[in-house]
Amino acid sequence: MPTTAVLGGLWGDEGKGKIIDFLAGDASVVVRFSGGNNAGHTVVNDYGKLVFHLIPCGICYEGTINVIGNGVVISPDALIEEIAMVKDNGLPGDIAISDRAHLIMPYHVLLDRLEEERRGAAAIGTTGRGIGPAYVDKVARMGVRVGELLDLEELTLTLPPIIEFKNELITKIYGGEPIDVAEVLEQTKHWADQIGPYIKSADEIVTNAIDSGENVIMEGAQGALLDIDHGTYPFVTSSSPTIGGALTGTGIGPSSFERIIGVFKAYATRVGAGPFPTEIHGDEGNRIREMAGEFGATTGRARRVGWFDAVAARYTTRVNGFTSMVLTRLDTLDNWDRIKVCTAYSLDGEIIEDFPIERGRLARCEPIYEELPGWTESTTRVTDWNDLCDGAQNYVRKLEDLLKIPASEISTGPHRDDTLVVNGSR
Ligand code: GDP
Ligand code: IMO
Ligand code: MG
Repeated sequence: MPTTAVLGGLWGDEGKGKIIDFLAGDASVVVRFSGGNNAGHTVVNDYGKLVFHLIPCGICYEGTINVIGNGVVISPDALIEEIAMVKDNGLPGDIAISDRAHLIMPYHVLLDRLEEERRGAAAIGTTGRGIGPAYVDKVARMGVRVGELLDLEELTLTLPPIIEFKNELITKIYGGEPIDVAEVLEQTKHWADQIGPYIKSADEIVTNAIDSGENVIMEGAQGALLDIDHGTYPFVTSSSPTIGGALTGTGIGPSSFERIIGVFKAYATRVGAGPFPTEIHGDEGNRIREMAGEFGATTGRARRVGWFDAVAARYTTRVNGFTSMVLTRLDTLDNWDRIKVCTAYSLDGEIIEDFPIERGRLARCEPIYEELPGWTESTTRVTDWNDLCDGAQNYVRKLEDLLKIPASEISTGPHRDDTLVVNGSR
């Protein structure tokens, strides 16, 4: 039952795509279980640099089935574009899409924008992809599932009343332009034509692979602190990127998991609004962002940067039951004079070590740092623990001590091959 979940440890963009592309070499199935094309997962391998938004990062291997699970919300146009990109690049994996995944409809994208505008200064900074409104409709039992594309006659009956309801909201509450029902119905034909061949009973594919003892990877999107329940609410996404989401988003049971890997960057980043206790502001933050190239893979937005936050990371380790961490972008810290790690917060004059999830309290937290010496030797593309300089080894050991889990892999560059397997070499 070798199922491995690869999950974002903080606020997303930790390098999940790179690690999944590395780990998927011996996997037969890779499954996305939550989120939508708000995700941007970068892989760099012999096919070049590729960014995936919906299709799992096992697609670069022959013989993998890359499943988009029922927990995902799918923009049909984004998916069609991504399937074309896969074909253009000659990527050899297969694709299967759950009939129970929900569709992001044009009115979801419009409502995402209108809702953000209405929030004004309290805007979440969403990716504008219609993610929140699509999940709202799923829970409101007003969603459209991918499988419905296989029965367009029925959809022609069920969809118009939904769009008419949405149009009342769009025009009367938000003063927006209504969606054209006939136009959407026309689009569904194109979507059915393009996506139809990939619609499969996804949970069967995953379950069969697990039952046959094959390796399965659950591909997390976003990160634990963007989780609708466990994240920094309301500055979160509308799904469950934590381990629970891997179960409900695919239809498999908990006993299948052998590894639950938390991916953490060697420092922290966040895109969009919301509290970020270890954020580095001003010139220093700008310098690090430019040097590290921290700009979003989906929206191109500047990512906020900060020091590694062990308080937050300990919390997400608990929420997910991480069995190990993967530390990415260690090379980015090369030549930094000093490296800070947040080990506790000061809150209203008290020192706390637990992550306060309530937004007012979290916003008032001041990080308490431990400062570690930097290193001048290069860690770039190092693949053996013994070739890591003392400073880098000490940094990894420090994070292991703070999180009380081992580092299983360390990433020392964006390429698949720039990966150090700790157990094999320490
Ligand atoms: P994801 O959403 O978690 O898959 O992460 P993203 O792809 O959005 O962002 C991670 C960025 O870091 C991408 O540009 C990767 O190519 C890059 N990256 C991943 N691992 C490493 C690493 O170890 N070193 C360096 N320098 N870049 C990395
Ligand atoms: P990957 O999978 C980083 C953030 C958005 C915003 C909040 C809500 O690449 O790690 P949404 O559009 O989901 O309603 O936006 O969540 N966000 C991400 N930040 N990486 C992601 O995905 C993200 N997906 C959503 O910036 O703050
Ligand atoms: Mg990303």
